[in-house]
Amino acid sequence: MGNAPRIGIFDSGIGGLSVATAIRQALPMGRLLYFGDNAHVPYGERTENEILAFSKAITTALLAKGCDAIVIACNTASSAALSALREQYPTLPIVGMEPAVKPAVEHTRTGVVGVLATRATVDGRVLADVVERFAQDVKVIRQACPGLAQRIDAGDFDGPTTEAMLRAWISPMLEQGIDALVLGCTHYPLVRPLIERITGPTVRVIEPSEAIARRLKHLLEEHGLIQGSEDLKDPLQDQGGNMEDSGLMDFYTSGDPASFRKILDRLGSKNAAVEQGTWELDGSLRLP
Ligand code: DGL
Repeated sequence: MGNAPRIGIFDSGIGGLSVATAIRQALPMGRLLYFGDNAHVPYGERTENEILAFSKAITTALLAKGCDAIVIACNTASSAALSALREQYPTLPIVGMEPAVKPAVEHTRTGVVGVLATRATVDGRVLADVVERFAQDVKVIRQACPGLAQRIDAGDFDGPTTEAMLRAWISPMLEQGIDALVLGCTHYPLVRPLIERITGPTVRVIEPSEAIARRLKHLLEEHGLIQGSEDLKDPLQDQGGNMEDSGLMDFYTSGDPASFRKILDRLGSKNAAVEQGTWELDGSLRLP
């Protein structure tokens, strides 16, 4: 198809791949450009100003590559930069993440839900705002997970240290009776099997990737960038849910392309090309 929209997606590292996978399924023929800022991971332990500056520079670079829409596939960056970017680009479709507290509240029977997120997200306005809006009558246990995104970014999806960290954070929540657990960082769905092993079957683990993909599709329709859902259906698409057939995805990282490629291999996107993005001294980002 001639005019597939170009979607720029970014995260501090590999976490946004969980969102990119959902977008890939919702818009199989869309052209996705993914930037992982692995040189700066973890965002969750940086200042809001730093994260804002990175997010602005990344958006500028993705727009220079011809993107028609931007997805901030990172809760931490969304919290720091979404409103500023919307102000800067009032006509550009921009989608950001927010912790999926609403579906957790709808699900809970015990009246106790948990949220795992980065320190910046736990302390930030966006989480406070969704709790205020949707969880008035529910107890929300917010747990910052320092170091977890970094471990996942390094490819440790199920090693003993990652498991011990998660157990130490999740066990007290289980003792307090949670029956829903929100993954408030896009890195965490990559360790979902491990998290579910710890929570057991009585806790529903919730993350918003699919809702974000639907929201993006809706925005693209509103902006006339796609005609309707049927336009972007690929009849040959497999239902596997990975990023196989990465021809329609371009990957960039500010970290090591070979390590990024290894992670993509593990996630089912074999032989994907990954190019080097370079941070310049003036704070701008150069994508090849
Ligand atoms: N993936 C990111 C998020 O959703 C942040 C991880 C980090 O860099 O700290 O919050």
